[in-house]
Amino acid sequence: MSDQPTSPRHVAIIMDGNGRWAKKRLLPRMAGHKKGVDTAKQVAYAALDLGVEVLTLYAFSTENWARPEEEVSGLMGLLKIFIQRDVRELSERGVRLKVIGNWRALAPDLVVLIEDALTQTAGNTASTLVIALNYGSQAEITASVRRLAEQVKAGALKPDAITADHIAQGLETADLPPLDLLIRTSGEVRLSNFLLWQAAYAEMLFVETLWPDFGKAELAAALDGFGERERRYGGL
Ligand code: FPP
Repeated sequence: MSDQPTSPRHVAIIMDGNGRWAKKRLLPRMAGHKKGVDTAKQVAYAALDLGVEVLTLYAFSTENWARPEEEVSGLMGLLKIFIQRDVRELSERGVRLKVIGNWRALAPDLVVLIEDALTQTAGNTASTLVIALNYGSQAEITASVRRLAEQVKAGALKPDAITADHIAQGLETADLPPLDLLIRTSGEVRLSNFLLWQAAYAEMLFVETLWPDFGKAELAAALDGFGERERRYGGL
C-alpha cells in the first residue's frame, strides 16, 4: 500500500526495566522508577518534537497493586510529582493530558491533581500524552461489552447488529487515532494486558534497552523503522 503514513500518529510504550536498571547500579528499585519518570518526560518531549500526535504510556497496571506496599506508595508519589510538575511543563508546549484506566479509584488527592491537570490542558492542541493509570485492557473491553449488553437488554440494539466498531467505540481510546506502533523496553516480549484490542494492527517493537536508558535517539530509530515496514492489515 503506497498511501499509508510513514510516520506513526499514535505510539504506545510499555515502560519496563526500571527495577533492573537500579539493581545493576546497586540502587533501590525506587531510584529506577525515579529515573523512569525523568525518561517519561524526556520521551514525551521527544515525541512532540518528532511529530507524534499521541503518545500513550503504561504507568500503572491493575496488576501492579500486587507489588510491595512500599513500592506502590512510592510509585503513587512519583505520579503526583509527574502530574504536578512535568505535565504542567509539557502543557506550556501545548501538550494535552488524557488519562485512561480506573484512575478515579486512586487516592482522592491524586484524583484531584489529575482532574486539575485534565482541565488545565484540555484546550492544548500540539499533541496528546495519554497516561494509562490503574489500567487493564481486559477490564476496558469488558466494560464496553457490558454497556452493549445493557443496550441489547433495553431493546436499543440487536445482538446481530453488534460490530467490532461498537466495541471500539466503547473503549477509552475511542477519540484517539488508531494505535500504529507499540514499543516495550527491557527485552520482555508480552503485552501485559495493555491495549489488547487497540494493538490488533499495530506494529510491535521490543527493545532490549531498559526504560531509564531509553531516549530520543531510540524513539527516532523506532519511528524510522516504522516507516520502512509494510503494513498489510491482513491483505496482500
Ligand atoms: C516497570 O519497571 C515500570 C513500571 C512498573 C511502571 C512505572 C513507571 C514509571 C515510574 C515511569 C513513568 C512514570 C510516569 C508517571 C509516566 P519494573 O519495576 O517492572 O522493572 P523490572 O521489570 O526491571 O523490575
